Amino acid sequence: DDIETLAEAIRNADTAAALTGAGISAPSGIPTFRGEDGVWDRFDEGQFTYGRFRSDPEGFWADRLELQEAMFGGDYEPNAGHEALAALERDGHLEAICTQNTDGLHADAAAVVRDADVDEPSVEAAESVLELHGNARRVRCTDCGRRREADPIFERAADGELPPTCGCGGVFKPDVVLFGEQLPGAVIQRARSLARESDAFLAIGSSLAVEPAASLPRQASSSGATLGIVNLESTSCDEAAAVVHREDVAEALPRLRELIEG
Ligand code: OAD
Repeated sequence: DDIETLAEAIRNADTAAALTGAGISAPSGIPTFRGEDGVWDRFDEGQFTYGRFRSDPEGFWADRLELQEAMFGGDYEPNAGHEALAALERDGHLEAICTQNTDGLHADAAAVVRDADVDEPSVEAAESVLELHGNARRVRCTDCGRRREADPIFERAADGELPPTCGCGGVFKPDVVLFGEQLPGAVIQRARSLARESDAFLAIGSSLAVEPAASLPRQASSSGATLGIVNLESTSCDEAAAVVHREDVAEALPRLRELIEG
């Protein structure tokens, strides 16, 4: 069975890593971007660019409020897929989890699996998670760089403060990577070296449609890693993979963990 092949590759790897996308949070109730019920069917992707944020911060924030509500408006928590990956990382089978998601659920899962099994809640948990596209739970002042929790700032925007501004007078930006914006340099560099060093690499719940994250699995595979893809639909990288497994992540990942850890 192909999950067994992946389990064996991870067990035998000196270094293994994963890249995740919106599909891993779908079982938590957060919509994906593409495919059935994808948010880019309901919202115009072109309105969420860095250029628009700079030229029309008011309009950008008005649209971003609606997008934030559509994506993160419900109550959501990590699912069995996040927790299986977090446990594999905690137990040393995965070096790190690179994610395109901005929902913070991998960091939550890292805390969940550590709270359950160790006395001290780990503040380093997030170190094992490389958030390539930032984190939508924060905003950042574009002048002074101060980071704030997003919820109260979004509430101010909902009350009509468009765009919401920092005490210093600067405009807040959701602390996520917008289209047309660079990824945080240190994070993408670390992800690239992980991909190069990995003997096994998993791409999970992503259509692999957006660069530069989409290139990581191919980089891993061309530098010798066994590449496994776990995704409901086809991805841009299927032909480079040793294993393509089509199953819900909340089913597939706990089984993968079971096979690795016994
Ligand atoms: P996509 O929405 O493009 O892809 C999600 C993939 O997950 C799809 O291929 C689905 O088939 C799959 N999927 C959905 N539910 C699943 C489940 N329960 N189990 C397994 N697979 C499932 O999301 P991403 O690839 O993450 O960028 O999108 C990449 C980037 O595009 C995002 O980070 C965002 C977006 O525009 C920025 O905001 C910069």
